[in-house]
Amino acid sequence: MKLLVTGGAGFIGSAVVRQAIARGYSVVNLDALTYAACLDNVASVADHPAYAFEQADIRDRAALDRVFATHKPDAVMHLAAESHVDRSIDGPGDFIETNITGTYHLLEAARAYWATQGKPEGFRFHHISTDEVFGSLGPTGQFTETTPYDPRSPYSASKAASDHLVRAWGETYGLPIVMTNCSNNYGPYHFPEKLIPVVILNALAGKDLPIYGDGSNVRDWLYVEDHADALLTVLQRGKLGRSYNIGGENERTNLELVQTLCAILDELRPKPAGSYSDQIRFVTDRPGHDARYAIDPTRMREELGWRPSVTVEEGLRKTVQWYLDNEAWWRALQDRDGVGARLGVKA
Ligand SMILES: NC(=O)c1ccc[n+]([C@@H]2O[C@H](COP(=O)([O-])OP(=O)(O)OC[C@H]3O[C@@H](n4cnc5c(N)ncnc54)[C@H](O)[C@@H]3O)[C@@H](O)[C@H]2O)c1
Repeated sequence: MKLLVTGGAGFIGSAVVRQAIARGYSVVNLDALTYAACLDNVASVADHPAYAFEQADIRDRAALDRVFATHKPDAVMHLAAESHVDRSIDGPGDFIETNITGTYHLLEAARAYWATQGKPEGFRFHHISTDEVFGSLGPTGQFTETTPYDPRSPYSASKAASDHLVRAWGETYGLPIVMTNCSNNYGPYHFPEKLIPVVILNALAGKDLPIYGDGSNVRDWLYVEDHADALLTVLQRGKLGRSYNIGGENERTNLELVQTLCAILDELRPKPAGSYSDQIRFVTDRPGHDARYAIDPTRMREELGWRPSVTVEEGLRKTVQWYLDNEAWWRALQDRDGVGARLGVKA
């Protein structure tokens, strides 16, 4: 089976590419190589005979048509997106263009290709989205697949719009779609502008560990390799037209998360004196910062028998060790535009 993976040079897409190749799929990785991309993420499979790379932008319909015609995929896994909430506050335009217009072009290219193939029933367009489309929870409750959409940042609004387009293309044109909405990912190859790598790398550099607001915001953390496994499970066995919420069953406040990271670093790379937690600093909150996200994973568990394989403590330990072992990877990304700067406070 041949997969067309968009955004396969990014954090989650590259995990999907690596796992798919390991499981015997053929993979075409389509990526525009924005600031967030890194081809080193897929270096381990780059020479594999079942792997191909196409540098293309999902907003470029002609390029998409060419990629479909050349590679004739059996399924699309759509991960390409602008993904950083703080950047969406400073510059929402790119999020509208890539996440909404780009998804529209990809849907149209997939629909045209699917028609030329005789509309095979087994074709899949798998759209990968986020739990952020559901908005913000209070201290209790969880997002289910039927929770009404209530996005609150330009990022989540653009992802919500793309989800609606994908559903509409399924209903209106019969395009065989499946969708997933998942919680916050972490793990190896996480771009060094997101919370967990920022904390690890600032800790090692002796810099402040920034926590937005009072650190009470709650997120459900999903190890990226578990997410990739869940996505391939949904692709194979998910019901047509259905969406699945994927969670890590690991809710933590941001402060708890950072304290856990500090404790792991204290053990794996002790400081000459004191704890990394001495570097924690509370900084101005993100505008519109959602209080809590939590996923009800019942559908994934009961329909597909899927559960995450690691706890957040196990996953964070693996992640910290990976950053300690892969300094050349993250050093090369630290001078990219905006990395290391506080973004998203202009609003
Ligand atoms: N990171 C998370 O915690 C998380 C959680 C839930 C859902 N998601 C979703 O998963 C997907 C992947 O997230 P990620 O964290 O790996 O993102 P990422 O920013 O690490 O990677 C995105 C990739 O998409 C590519 N891309 C961006 N614009 C493009 C365009 N116009 N054309 C082609 N390629 C383009 C980039 O070059 C990059 O390689 C996104 O759709 C995101 O919304 C992410």
